[in-house]
Amino acid sequence: MNVLVLGSGGREHAIITSFTNSKSVNKIYALPGNGGTSIIATNIQGDVNDFKKIKEEVINNNISLVFVGPEDPIVNGIYDFFKSDNSLKDIKIIAPSKLAGQLEGSKEFAKKFMERYNIPTAKHETFTKDNIDQSDAFLESMNPPYVLKADGLAAGKGVLIIDNLQNAKDELRSMILDKKFGDSSSKVVIEEFLDGIELSCFVLTDGKNYKILPFAKDYKKIGEGDTGLNTGGMGAISPVPFLDYKFLEKIEERIIKPTIDGIKKENMEYMGVVFIGLIKVGEDPYVIEYNVRMGDPETEVVFPRVKNDLLDLFSSMGTPKFKDIKLNISDNHAATVILVSGGYPESYEKGKTIEGLNDLSQVSVFHAGTKKKSDSFITSGGRVLAITSMGDNFELALKNSYNQINKIKFDGMNYRKDIGFDLL
Ligand code: AMP
Ligand code: GLY
Repeated sequence: MNVLVLGSGGREHAIITSFTNSKSVNKIYALPGNGGTSIIATNIQGDVNDFKKIKEEVINNNISLVFVGPEDPIVNGIYDFFKSDNSLKDIKIIAPSKLAGQLEGSKEFAKKFMERYNIPTAKHETFTKDNIDQSDAFLESMNPPYVLKADGLAAGKGVLIIDNLQNAKDELRSMILDKKFGDSSSKVVIEEFLDGIELSCFVLTDGKNYKILPFAKDYKKIGEGDTGLNTGGMGAISPVPFLDYKFLEKIEERIIKPTIDGIKKENMEYMGVVFIGLIKVGEDPYVIEYNVRMGDPETEVVFPRVKNDLLDLFSSMGTPKFKDIKLNISDNHAATVILVSGGYPESYEKGKTIEGLNDLSQVSVFHAGTKKKSDSFITSGGRVLAITSMGDNFELALKNSYNQINKIKFDGMNYRKDIGFDLL
């Protein structure tokens, strides 16, 4: 079959790489894709939110399955667009409906959903300009640090964690009244700070049955030892060493099952991934957030460990076959290190030539912000490359990734030298 993957990051390059190994694949298209996907698929120029253009490409290229990488088109309703169009409604689209997309698209919607199904999460209250006069009292009733979250999508930047009470009061006003994050922050959820260690849980579901993909942990901060500004992710590992059987059972019973039950009860159409951002507080799991897509860079360590034919797995969703498929997960440990442009996550330059990619061995190189330029690749984003290795343990996997990274060069290249530091 012909498939189309929407998106342009390391996540999409990793998914397309898995699809190239499928026995069912014919042609793979990426919209818009990146330098890496241009080598193993056909890139189509366009915007992931331009549904009319996507429709044209699906029809012209005889696409049978569309995998939606990023959250924006999901929250904008790409699933509903397909289902309400006669020429698209039978195409398999791996994305949840617009309604289900609100689990990521609105923090308040997600919180209310969790409340309805008793899913453990931080205590919270929602504020808008209409009840902003009550926010000071609410903040005063809480212990620092204060967690302020823009309700809507804010490209990963909408969460502030503030130690000082007065600053928290001021920031709340700046979010709501001065639109610090645009319309995303016209509503703000204030919540209790949870102190623990985070992990990423990925549940594949067609709204009826579900399968738990390998867990992963990402490293979000720019600086070594988890310091400095938040980024899209500087590295990831899978499996998660502190996830033992007992903890997994708690996650499945208290969080995954009630989440899937809630999706069913509310008749949300769901054909894709529920990404549950979890935090382990003491011995108990809490939900930090829902996302309605795969994580990036987690995908770059999760899918390399899944030995099933991924295209067959996605194609089976919504059919009786899905329930019977058993996931076949590699025991190997996977680690990825992200190479970023100098200055990222603040301003950075693009267009730097990347050298050394032909000299690498025993790693998977997933492109994120790259472009093909004649015979080489140049940088085109903040996160540039994900270098993934597999090994019997994290020490071996990471040693290999770092050895290979020594061969790669571009002007301003930066990366964390301590991915997995907390595990070894
Ligand atoms: P979110 O966009 O909701 O995932 O939040 C971004 C990051 O902020 C999370 O990955 C956590 O590191 C942190 N965070 C969010 N909510 C909380 C919370 N209630 N307690 C502690 N840290 C949090
Ligand atoms: N790595 C976190 C995310 O994809 O949102």
